[in-house]
Amino acid sequence: MISKFAICPLNYVCPELIKLFRDQAAIKNILGNKRLSVLDIGCRNPQSLYILYNDLGFDILEGIELTSQEDAVNEFLRAINLNYDKTSTTIYDLYLKYLLFDGTELTGRTTHLNQPEFAKKFNVRFNTEAHQYFQEFEGERKFHLIILSDVLHLMPYVAATNLLRYVTKSLSDKGLLYVKVNHNDNPVAQEKGHYSYMEKQFLALFDAHYEPIHFCKNLVEDSDLVRSIVYLGWKTKKS
Ligand SMILES: C[S@@+](CC[C@H](N)C(=O)[O-])C[C@H]1O[C@@H](n2cnc3c(N)ncnc32)[C@H](O)[C@@H]1O
Repeated sequence: MISKFAICPLNYVCPELIKLFRDQAAIKNILGNKRLSVLDIGCRNPQSLYILYNDLGFDILEGIELTSQEDAVNEFLRAINLNYDKTSTTIYDLYLKYLLFDGTELTGRTTHLNQPEFAKKFNVRFNTEAHQYFQEFEGERKFHLIILSDVLHLMPYVAATNLLRYVTKSLSDKGLLYVKVNHNDNPVAQEKGHYSYMEKQFLALFDAHYEPIHFCKNLVEDSDLVRSIVYLGWKTKKS
């Protein structure tokens, strides 16, 4: 069996976030004793949502992804060198074959969900653009956590700022924002033509509305020495 962390590296759902939510009593004290909700923007596949459900006690899990489900499944299989698996075509197939592990430290959620239960629990909207999603649902939904991992550097700064404005509106009081982007000093980003951020410019995005919990300006991922910036913060009262 493949190790869970081989599939979902910790830098996606960062250790600081995990530490925070492992103390369920403390986090519920801050966020209110409600069912925890999360939105993962540009999630690609359900791996992060699955960990947030299974290990960290989230109950309402939504994802937005620009690509089709088929592309997302193929990308997942490619990333773990299993592209010879032609029988997995949906994210439910990935869940059954690669994401379902017995024994969780925190939630004890080991039950296998059937397909309708899975679809209800993991609400991933494929073929959906993030700005359009917010235009449609603006103000209707609030989340305790919003994740933007390796997504903002795919759009120009103005689009990123606009998206963050929507995100801030869609976070609950004291809701958490987790963002990871390419650092300016990142050869892979330059090669791929991604937008990239200097620390100051990046931090300025959060200044007015967030209080930082964790900031890492030079996260180096093992694979191909990609440099990233990571930010985890609380939404402040005045937002
Ligand atoms: C580099 S991947 C990151 C995937 C995952 N979040 C992670 O950190 O491993 C970026 C994902 O964001 C999606 N994406 C890019 N722009 C988007 C947009 N405007 N709205 C929704 N998804 C978007 C892409 O299709 C892609 O799957």
